[in-house]
Amino acid sequence: MSEEGVDLGKRRFLIAATSVVGAAGAVAVAIPFISYMLPSARARAAGAPVEADISKLEPGQLIRVQWRGQPVWILKRTEQMLKDLESLVDSLNDPNSDVEDQQPSYAKNKYRSIKPEILVAIGICTHLGCSPTYRPEVAPEDLGPEWKGGFFCPCHGSRFDLAGRVYKGVPAQLNLKIPPHRYLSDSVILVGEDEGVS
Ligand code: FES
Repeated sequence: MSEEGVDLGKRRFLIAATSVVGAAGAVAVAIPFISYMLPSARARAAGAPVEADISKLEPGQLIRVQWRGQPVWILKRTEQMLKDLESLVDSLNDPNSDVEDQQPSYAKNKYRSIKPEILVAIGICTHLGCSPTYRPEVAPEDLGPEWKGGFFCPCHGSRFDLAGRVYKGVPAQLNLKIPPHRYLSDSVILVGEDEGVS
């Protein structure tokens, strides 16, 4: 090979090597930037409101969505369920939702909801955080003749009615939490955001 040929070969090698270093440098610069960006993007996504389609929800049916890693229940109550709520007041710890932290102000009413028939509640027991079971049956054998339908926590036996109000004399003391929410339309609820939040 001529000297000229050797030089040309060297030059090609040097150009290729420089490009590789250049690319590696770009990656090295990009990685800290991406890892800096990701946690906040992830945090934003984790805290983001969630849309729930309730167009196919039948009376008595409950669906679940996840919001901030928590189960959120959406229950369409029947006329009878709504009537039964009124008869339970004396058996409940906080029948009028006086503990403010447990619901937004627009859910401080006898149904604990925006629309009477639709309950939106966080499905976490206010005792030690288990997930209660939806038990819509009236007077099932294991829950007794007074049971009008509600949520039963299998961990230590706390009971909640179909508005998430806690019964007296059970380990949990607080009603189930109602998350912020609003209606985007008749059939879509946005969980995690209400009119007061931009
Ligand atoms: S966690 Fe529900 S009763 Fe204890």
